[in-house]
Amino acid sequence: MPVKKGSSGISRRDFLKGMGTTILSTAVVTGGGLVPDSATAALLDDTVETISGRVKISLRVNHKVYSVAVEPRTTLLEVLRERLGLTGAKPACNRGECGACTVLVDNQPMLACSLLAVDVRDADIITVEGLSTDDTLTAVQKAFVEKDGLMCGFCTPGFVVAATALLQKNPNPSLSEIKQGLSGNLCRCAAYPKIFEAVQQAARTMQRGK
Ligand code: FES
Repeated sequence: MPVKKGSSGISRRDFLKGMGTTILSTAVVTGGGLVPDSATAALLDDTVETISGRVKISLRVNHKVYSVAVEPRTTLLEVLRERLGLTGAKPACNRGECGACTVLVDNQPMLACSLLAVDVRDADIITVEGLSTDDTLTAVQKAFVEKDGLMCGFCTPGFVVAATALLQKNPNPSLSEIKQGLSGNLCRCAAYPKIFEAVQQAARTMQRGK
């Protein structure tokens, strides 16, 4: 496909080609390397779109639609906790390593600390607060209580959400499938045996349809 030319008859490519020597001559030598000055850098990199300020988006969380104004850099976790008051998802490592902030995004377990709010504006988001649609606990939540699948409890919401997603996908997981399915969630108190027992109990309960 030919490069589209402007009214001058000179294409952008021709222009940039012709600018090559100028660019080199305006480059600044820094620390032994060639660094283009800012005007030249802007000319070279016109693919970067600068977005600033806030954008208004709608987020569907726990079956409700919220309208929020966010900065493009705002994470889903920040919106959930600081704007919507949904503090179940926890900011523990805040860099995608511990799973404490796990939420469901279109039924997939995702880390809310590592998602931009603007990127999930068309998704269905479910947090630990929205797993049950009435006042009763879900089978997974109940099993965590009954099996004592927690110690300090800080990681528990993330485990509950991740286990829910696991059992939706695989209703009858083996122990090793449970370990594998929950491998993105860390428990600093090492309550893993009880957590795994809780998931096994929840699987049995769900299979009985209770
Ligand atoms: Fe998101 Fe740790 S807080 S993975």
